[in-house]
Amino acid sequence: MHPNFLSLADFSTEELSDLLNLADLLKEQQRTGVDHRELKGKVVAMVFEKPSLRTRMTFEAGIFQLGAHAIFYPDKLGARESEADVARNLTRWVDAIVARTFRHESVEIMAEYASVPVVNALTDRLHPCQVLADAQTLREHRGGLDGLKIAFVGDGNNMFASWANLATRFPFDLTLVCPEGYEGDEAIHAFAAKEAKGSVSVSNDPAEGVRGADVIYTDVWASMGQEDEKSARALVFAPYQVNAELMSKAKSDALFMHCLPAHRGEEVTDEVIESDQSIVFDEAENRLHAQKAILVALMKNRG
Ligand code: CP
Ligand code: NVA
Repeated sequence: MHPNFLSLADFSTEELSDLLNLADLLKEQQRTGVDHRELKGKVVAMVFEKPSLRTRMTFEAGIFQLGAHAIFYPDKLGARESEADVARNLTRWVDAIVARTFRHESVEIMAEYASVPVVNALTDRLHPCQVLADAQTLREHRGGLDGLKIAFVGDGNNMFASWANLATRFPFDLTLVCPEGYEGDEAIHAFAAKEAKGSVSVSNDPAEGVRGADVIYTDVWASMGQEDEKSARALVFAPYQVNAELMSKAKSDALFMHCLPAHRGEEVTDEVIESDQSIVFDEAENRLHAQKAILVALMKNRG
């Protein structure tokens, strides 16, 4: 197994299935009050360059539930000290590093210089922890991912990129439904085109792109770090809002998913996110269990 959790593409189908099974087990143990302090006495550093509700809270809560302790380091990397030096310090004191950074290269550099596991808690390029929790959520609601038609409506951003990586490991059909020019990372599309177990495609037509979908997923139109583009993007993305009319083009029992935070009235209406089809808080809940599984698997792997 890969020593760090930076990208879903670093893991095989079997390894990802094992992580999901472990996440299910840890969820059950948490629910039934079974002691699972598998990381007793360990310390985890949490380096966050960007704000967070879900990721920070679920890592800190999960680390506590596993018998370990989290230390939060809220600072930009590279200004006071380089990523390499931060990593070489932390690795002398702690047993794992969880990092949310702007540049994806920052987590790669930390992984290179640390001798403890590094977990990507979101970068400008990828958000693998979220998509692992989403996969756990879809297994609960649909019994698995195989054969699903998933429409990712919005920006071809870090969320979409991790979904595209997941599509190289499980056989589902993923369509990015976005305005022209917002397809995102070309390397991600090239990798998915080569390795997809089902298919990964792009549509610029919202109604056509979501037709017959089992799942409609969306995310903010301007990600953290793109605040300056917010108003320009609001105009370009307006036809891609997930509203009741767009939901009606998908299957009648289609699920609505969003990594959150949601900007209601922008990428999704109140009506859709509050509907019975919405499973956004199940996704948020599973962040806890999926990340506990990641920490247990990586930290036990290192001994
Ligand atoms: N979905 C997600 O990662 O939320 P936060 O940015 O609040 O951590
Ligand atoms: N694409 C969003 C995801 C937030 C969880 C961002 O990077 O801000």
